[in-house]
Amino acid sequence: KCQIHCNLYNVKSTKGLIRKINSNSKTNSSKIIEILREGKPEQKIKIQGWVRTKRELKEFAFIEVNDGSSLANLQVVLNRDLSNYENIIKRLNTGVSLGVEGVLVESPAKGQKIELKAHSLEIFGDCDGETYPLQKKRHSFEFLRTIGHLRGRTNTIGAVMRVRNACANAIHQFFQNKGFLWVHTPIITASDCEGAGELFTVTNLNLEEILQAKKEKIDYSHDFFGRQAYLTVSGQLEAEIMAMAFQNVYTFGPTFRAENSNTSRHLAEFWMVEPEIAFCDLEGDQNLAEEFLKYVFTSVLNSCPEDLEFFNQRINQNVLSNVSNIIDNEFARITYTEAINLLEKSNQTFEYPVEWGIDLQSEHERYLAEKLFKKPVIVTNYPKEIKAFYMRLNDEQKTVAAMDILAPNIGEIIGGSQREERLDVLESRIADLNIDRDSLWWYLDLRRYGSVPHAGFGLGFERLVQFMTGMENIRDVIPFPRTPMNAEF
Ligand code: 4AD
Ligand code: MG
Repeated sequence: KCQIHCNLYNVKSTKGLIRKINSNSKTNSSKIIEILREGKPEQKIKIQGWVRTKRELKEFAFIEVNDGSSLANLQVVLNRDLSNYENIIKRLNTGVSLGVEGVLVESPAKGQKIELKAHSLEIFGDCDGETYPLQKKRHSFEFLRTIGHLRGRTNTIGAVMRVRNACANAIHQFFQNKGFLWVHTPIITASDCEGAGELFTVTNLNLEEILQAKKEKIDYSHDFFGRQAYLTVSGQLEAEIMAMAFQNVYTFGPTFRAENSNTSRHLAEFWMVEPEIAFCDLEGDQNLAEEFLKYVFTSVLNSCPEDLEFFNQRINQNVLSNVSNIIDNEFARITYTEAINLLEKSNQTFEYPVEWGIDLQSEHERYLAEKLFKKPVIVTNYPKEIKAFYMRLNDEQKTVAAMDILAPNIGEIIGGSQREERLDVLESRIADLNIDRDSLWWYLDLRRYGSVPHAGFGLGFERLVQFMTGMENIRDVIPFPRTPMNAEF
């Protein structure tokens, strides 16, 4: 099935790529993923990695070695005739790093075609069996978060990181194939794109000195940038600048939000993918977003089959069917007003009561995507009061040309809109919302000099990885999560 989709979306296999990157010229070692896929008996190879388990028999010992390239380990057989056998065996605890040279042989064991018969073995770093936190048992994800420096060595987090990488790769492929320019928007900015006030200030003022001098107000004119600056919440405004010169662009970078939401879907630092398309309206925006998600899901299904199979078996038994569901079905498309009507007719009891004008809550989004449509739903044309200043005002003046894509299990995965390209309308929106007009002079200028209709969207990258892996908590799909009260590692 996967193969069919891949042909459909013309996804190239990344196999060749893996091989090239993985042949480490300095040591000439091979990656375990390559060996398991393509290794043949009698090949002489060298591997490097970490011991997962050891099993000692009378005449020989088995160790399972993992090098991060695949979920599966390579079984290594150590014969008694190996030099220094007794001493080595004693040291081979879980977590030890080593290099092994030897020859591949057919494996008599079930579930694996080949194993490595060791000719020589070098230990790089010992690992204390008493204190090493990753013993061979199931650890909770909460516990693993406390050992963020080691958790990448577990099956689940290892698989997550490979899928995350495959998602990023597919995203670039999609846009590059379509001729979009990858633009790098600033991480430090003076504007609040979303206007939600969830900004982290960036300063090099000596705050302790200011406090001691008991100044009532901080004077940012003496700060590094001569004004108050923040970590960006979105690269969109600058992406719009670039789209007004290059037509089709995208950003892919970290964004920051100081929202105090301790949920399984929110991070204070997350990665966002934001395409911006000139000469495009809301419909074109929806079409691109749907094609984009389908492409990425197809591509990852093709490049990480073992990891996805693992998630399906061990984390969430609906992962594969959810992914196929996205690939195979047209997304539902409804307006906000229709969504409210459907929610009102639903006979469900929601914690947040439903009426026209409310911002959709996670429970509403999930009802629509999971229960009602059972597939992704694109909701368009939200009330202007609950959306950002840059969204294009619809003719009836009550709603804006916004779109959110709601995915089963996740809720909002993409948020986007057609942008307001008319100077006068934008100016009056900015005035209505009491936004500082002067600081947006350049944004307004774009509407003065060759303005064009344009649209774009933002994909929450971690929410995508969550969807692909079925992981419950967003903290487990980013290597080093940043959340309220937590910036360890
Ligand atoms: O809906 P949002 O706020 O939209 C924007 O920032 C627009 N400027 C995007 C654009 O049109 N270029 O955020 C976009 C997506 C959300 O749909 C969600 O998937 C994700 O970013 N997101 C978060 N992901 C993790 N943690 C958070 N705190 C998030 N906030 C938003
Ligand atoms: Mg949003």
